Amino acid sequence: MNTRAFVAGWASAVPDGRLTNADLEQRVDTTDAWIVERTGIRERRVASRDQTTASLAIEAGATAVKYAGLAPEAIDLLVLATATPEQPIPHTGAFVGEGIGVRCGSFDLGAGCAGFVYALVAGASMLTGGGLEHVLVIGAETLSRIVNPADRGTCILFGDAAAAMVLGRSDRPDAPGLLAWDLGCDGSATGLLEIRGGGSRMPTTPETVAAGEHWLRMQGQEVFRRAVRAVVDSGAATLEGAGVTAAEVDWFVPHQANLRIIDAARHRLGIPEERTVVNIERYGNTSAASIPLALAEAADDGRIRDGDLVLCSGFGAGMTWASALLRWGHP
Ligand code: ACO
Repeated sequence: MNTRAFVAGWASAVPDGRLTNADLEQRVDTTDAWIVERTGIRERRVASRDQTTASLAIEAGATAVKYAGLAPEAIDLLVLATATPEQPIPHTGAFVGEGIGVRCGSFDLGAGCAGFVYALVAGASMLTGGGLEHVLVIGAETLSRIVNPADRGTCILFGDAAAAMVLGRSDRPDAPGLLAWDLGCDGSATGLLEIRGGGSRMPTTPETVAAGEHWLRMQGQEVFRRAVRAVVDSGAATLEGAGVTAAEVDWFVPHQANLRIIDAARHRLGIPEERTVVNIERYGNTSAASIPLALAEAADDGRIRDGDLVLCSGFGAGMTWASALLRWGHP
């Protein structure tokens, strides 16, 4: 590969509203101790009534463009990963493009919690293969809108956030940027994590709403089991593809779904705790926003530095999985 997509700017946006474990103790039959022990989560951010997936994405995207030192017109393509779109039609990218002030092509990408890495790979490939100069990749979610507040198996897990990365192109073969990736999906597991109502199979009716088919449903234990395997296999395949070992990885940035999944996966990959980025205690699972949110935080506070080798790995509804190996920094 003679051209490379590198991260030229990044930013995140989270709502001010916090939902703590103590708040959840008042709503469902659970305890702070259970949630912390089984998930590692202490609080999540929740969008206010006037905040949406697009408004969070606009905030993160516009800031990332600014921090990349660009005007919005410099963006040639917008790829937005989400499982909680603004509305069924049109795609969320249309709202976000208008909010940021771009008229370039845009599309939404649905791959559950693996969505951001899918979007990164799609955006980087179109950048390098299609002769673009800058691509804006965003992961944005308002999961609080699709979680059944009475379901203690899911309402404790999810939060709202957005995070964005601007990709730039370098023609130097030794430039930093996306080095290797791995994407996959096992569609035999669609029923493990799903919203059944509101689509082509089950259009919304008063009956589907009464039956709660518009809420997210999850078979947590089975998702858990498969998630560890997916992250480990996909992460290892990506490292192998780039010809690097786990010992050479400076930072592992996994999807923040459950601290026990993160610990099991990094242990099996051979990456120590001190080189793993974890922020799940403050945000919970923010699906497509989770990996870029963790990346942005670690880059902002100086943990991730130019030249560092960063392995991102996620999994989600589908079941999808996706990993990307990046050399951080500008050419
Ligand atoms: N508080 C207290 N008890 C609870 C709670 C709760 N919030 N939730 C479940 N329990 C109970 C169960 O009812 C069960 O009780 P029982 O033994 O009497 O039946 C017991 O706790 C154990 O339940 P498990 O489901 O076995 O608990 P587990 O340790 O598996 O934890 C959890 C559940 C946290 C959901 C876990 O399975 C998990 O994190 N799974 C992965 C979820 C995930 O990553 N999803 C995101 C995928 S990505 C995407 O695209 C959205």
